[in-house]
Amino acid sequence: MAKVKFHSGEAVPLEMHKVRIVQKLSLAPIERRLEAIREAGNNTFLLKNRDIFLDMLTDSGVNAMSDKQQAAMMEADDSYAGSETFTKLENKIRDIFQMEYFLPVHQGRAAENIISRVFVTPGSIVPMNYHFTTSKAHIVLNGGSVEEIIIDEGLQVTSQCPFKGDMDVGKLQTLISTHGAAKIAYVRIETGTNLIGGQPHSLANLREVSRVCRKNGILLVFDASLLADNLHFIKDREAECRGMSVRDITKAIAGLTDIIYFSARKLGCARGGGICTNSRDAFMKMRELVTLYEGFLTYGGMSIREIEALTVGLEETMDEDMISQGPQFIEYMVNDLARQGVPVITPAGGLGCHLDAMAFLPHVPQTEYPAGALASALYLVSGVRGMERGSISEQRNEDGSEVYSNMELLRLAVPRRVFTLSQLKYAVDRIVWLYQNRDLIGGLKFVEEPSMLRFFFGKLEATSGWQAKLVAKFRKDFGDSL
Ligand code: F0G
Repeated sequence: MAKVKFHSGEAVPLEMHKVRIVQKLSLAPIERRLEAIREAGNNTFLLKNRDIFLDMLTDSGVNAMSDKQQAAMMEADDSYAGSETFTKLENKIRDIFQMEYFLPVHQGRAAENIISRVFVTPGSIVPMNYHFTTSKAHIVLNGGSVEEIIIDEGLQVTSQCPFKGDMDVGKLQTLISTHGAAKIAYVRIETGTNLIGGQPHSLANLREVSRVCRKNGILLVFDASLLADNLHFIKDREAECRGMSVRDITKAIAGLTDIIYFSARKLGCARGGGICTNSRDAFMKMRELVTLYEGFLTYGGMSIREIEALTVGLEETMDEDMISQGPQFIEYMVNDLARQGVPVITPAGGLGCHLDAMAFLPHVPQTEYPAGALASALYLVSGVRGMERGSISEQRNEDGSEVYSNMELLRLAVPRRVFTLSQLKYAVDRIVWLYQNRDLIGGLKFVEEPSMLRFFFGKLEATSGWQAKLVAKFRKDFGDSL
């Protein structure tokens, strides 16, 4: 992605690709959107695609493929065992990550299942910069616990800190001296830290973490699902890396870690996932579980066409134009919203733009789920689907009391190469309008609340008649516009 200056002085991200396949979209009128969000129990996971205009739920499995990826899918060599297609991927992993062994899995959480089963024992601890929902769940399922030791700036919503995803190395050292290295199953670094707004870590921080791990004989596991974004930020923001190629930064990262795993629904614009290592011992331990839970070692639950697409997608990730597209679009959106006073996570990260629902809706208490209410309201006024990342995404304590999350966020993911700048401008326009009319937005309450994964299946309703009022105001301001 190039950033060009317009004669007005404005720096605008410019796509370094052209779109050759398109999918028709429709924008249902607001009255239909009101019905749709009510049918979905105000849960954006339960909306149907036909009622959605811009799907910003996630970047997972919905990034646009390149022509070269599509072409590679046509020549896939399909067989249960010994496929040439798999050998190509294995060689690409060796080339990019310099790791000898590769295990394919059907998606990122399957890698987490296998790594946790092999390395987490009851009572063990996994220090990490920050958790992701599925990574934590697998560690806990195997009797371990998670210690989040992100630097303090990581949890500040607005900040100038370029690497909010860094681990606090002092806290890591304290954990090791308090519990002893033997109690630590492994240290996990998540690149492009998802739940705090796609925030990157620096190469320098990873080097420090790796030094402490190696000194103490502790495995360093690296979740590379959001590596593309983080590579861009290291190159852009870390002075000592400015002269390095993306490929060299990737090699430097890989050389500091013991196990790399990833969701190929994010990294490589395909589907599936994988685990890479140079340790024959770790490979042999994990190998059996791959055949048990995923499939034979030369497909691991992935379709052979996905493996072809991933091989090409990983190579394309070594291209600065490719990896900068998402972060630069997100930066454009975040800066435009911040300029107009809308509370967003800063600095702009990867993955998407994150609205701070507690600041957006200070009059909606956490008991009435401000991030969920904002997700519902934004869909209503725009047809844009975001994802609640707040208390609805938490699970109640065993005594039934609520767990309130640190941050109440509405995540608006920007899948790679999918949206145009005018579509982002539309989203920004409706968000700003909503912010100006925020007093009209009320809270939500559960009407159907499953005990597990309530954010996926739960249904909620408005605590008052606020949605109808929002529709009336929209019609007053926008006339018969959609
Ligand atoms: N690790 C990270 C950092 C992730 O963001 C995800 C998925 C996973 C692991 C699990 O991978 O979905 O292929 O099983 N994140 C998706 C999201 C679900 O919407 O952010 P998966």
